Amino acid sequence: MAALSASRTGDTGVSLVYDMNRKMIEQGKKKSIKGVTFVQGDAECLSFPDESFDAVSIGFGIRNVTHLETGFKEIFRVLKRGGKMCCLEFSKPDNPFFRFLYDVYSFRIMPFIGGLMTGSKEAYTAFPESIRAFPLPHELSLILKDIGFKDIIIQKLTNGIAVIHSAKK
Ligand SMILES: C[S@@+](CC[C@H](N)C(=O)[O-])C[C@H]1O[C@@H](n2cnc3c(N)ncnc32)[C@H](O)[C@@H]1O
Repeated sequence: MAALSASRTGDTGVSLVYDMNRKMIEQGKKKSIKGVTFVQGDAECLSFPDESFDAVSIGFGIRNVTHLETGFKEIFRVLKRGGKMCCLEFSKPDNPFFRFLYDVYSFRIMPFIGGLMTGSKEAYTAFPESIRAFPLPHELSLILKDIGFKDIIIQKLTNGIAVIHSAKK
């Protein structure tokens, strides 16, 4: 997403990657994405003035932010009027049979393989649990609407395993 953003901003714009975890930033920097600046900070208290950005995207990140509403309020605050927000996050499949298969995979197979590969089965158990605890797409839309976002569009990917919420300020 950072690379895509940088390809759009060109030489005159600025693309920022924002994460609170130093090690994650260092991993990102290894990808040497041209035109991207990395900033370490808390998404619940963004270190930028109001109405600083034309667009803000968050990919597989908001689920990890402790107070999701605060995170979205901060995104809203730093967006310019008419600015675009895009959130890509895991969710739950719509189809009951597909959801059953996905649950077997994410609660049984993934922790087993993840545990074998990394020695940390717990990390791969917390991951599906955090997806189950995350608001459903229509619930997240209501949260965004309450904050003030408009023109909210939901786009489900692979039967709802992942969902894109896009909206405007
Ligand atoms: C699942 S990782 C995804 C990282 C990256 N978006 C990617 O797709 O490679 C979630 C990230 O959210 C970051 N994170 C969690 N809470 C945060 C917060 N309050 N402020 C900033 N970053 C946060 C974590 O440090 C972690 O790097």
